[in-house]
Amino acid sequence: MDERYYEEHSPWIMQHEQNKNYLEMTNVMKQYPNGFKAVNGLNLKMYADQIFVLLGHNGAGKSSTISVLTGLYEPTEGEAEVFGIDMFKEFRKVREILGICPQFDIIFDLLTPEEHLDIFYDFKGGDMDPYKKKNEIDTLLEDVGLEEKRNFQTAKLSGGNQRKLSVAMALCGGSKLIILDEPTSTLDLSARRLLWNMLKEYRKDRIILLTTHYMDEADILGDRIGIMVKGKVTCLGSSLFLKKKFGCGYNLTMLKASTEMNSKVLKYAKERLGENCKLKSQN
Ligand SMILES: Nc1ncnc2c1ncn2[C@@H]1O[C@H](COP(=O)(O)OP(=O)(O)OP(=O)(O)O)[C@@H](O)[C@H]1O
Ligand SMILES: [Mg+2]
Repeated sequence: MDERYYEEHSPWIMQHEQNKNYLEMTNVMKQYPNGFKAVNGLNLKMYADQIFVLLGHNGAGKSSTISVLTGLYEPTEGEAEVFGIDMFKEFRKVREILGICPQFDIIFDLLTPEEHLDIFYDFKGGDMDPYKKKNEIDTLLEDVGLEEKRNFQTAKLSGGNQRKLSVAMALCGGSKLIILDEPTSTLDLSARRLLWNMLKEYRKDRIILLTTHYMDEADILGDRIGIMVKGKVTCLGSSLFLKKKFGCGYNLTMLKASTEMNSKVLKYAKERLGENCKLKSQN
C-alpha cells in the first residue's frame, strides 16, 4: 500500500501487543477455482477494544475475506493470527471465541429469538451457570431491540429483526472475535443507530471486524477503517485521517418548514459557510 494512505496505529493501542490481543493477517489471498483473485494480498492488523471497518463497494472482496477468516473457504496463500492462535492451522480453537454474523441470515425458522440465543450460547460453551446464561440472553435481546419479539417464531419476524438476531447470535456466549458482514443491511435508520451504540459498548475486550458499504457507518463506528478495492486495501487509518486525505466537505441536514424555504436556506448557508455550499435535496 502507498505509504501516503497508511496511518500508523495509535501508540496506546500497542499495550495489546504484549498479550497478543490482536488479529493480524499477512499476505492473505483467495483465488477462486475460476482463477479470480477476490482477496489479493491483505496485510491488516486489528486490536482488541476497537472496531475495524472494511469499507468497500459491491464485489470488493469483503465477504471473501470474511469467508477465509471464518473457515468457510481455505485461503490460497497467507497467514492469520488472532489472540496468539494460528487461524488457518488451529481453527478449532478459533471457533471457541468466534462470533459471526454472515451477510445473509442463517436462522432456524421455527425457533424464537430467545431459543436461538439459548442454543448458540451452548454451542459457544458459555458459562454453565443458568443465571448467567439467562442474564446474558436477556441483556442481548434488550440491547439489540428484540425484547418484545423474544417469543415470536423467527420466520415471521421482519428482515430487520432477523438481522438484529444474527448480530445478537454473533455476540453471545463469550465471543471475543466478532465478525459482522454488513450487519446493518435491511435495518432502518433508528435501528442502525441503536446497533452502532451497542457495538461501541461491546467492543471492550473484543476484536470487532465489520464490513459495510456506508461511509457514515464507517465514520461513526470505525476506530480504524480500511478501504477495500479489488481485493486489496488501498487506504487504512482513522476516520479523521481518511477525511484529511480525501475529505471534501460536510453534509448538513436541516428540517425545513416547507420546500419554499430552499432558496432562503441556501442563502443562509452560503452567508455563513461559504459560496461552495450546495443543496443536495430539494424536498
Ligand atoms: N465462489 C466464487 N467463485 C468465483 N468468484 C467469486 C465467488 N464468490 C465471490 N466471487 C467474486 O469475488 C468478488 C468479491 O466478492 P465478495 O462477495 O467477496 O464481495 P463483497 O465485497 O462482499 O461484495 P458485496 O458488497 O456485494 O457483498 C466478486 O467479483 C465475486 O463475483
Ligand atoms: Mg459481501
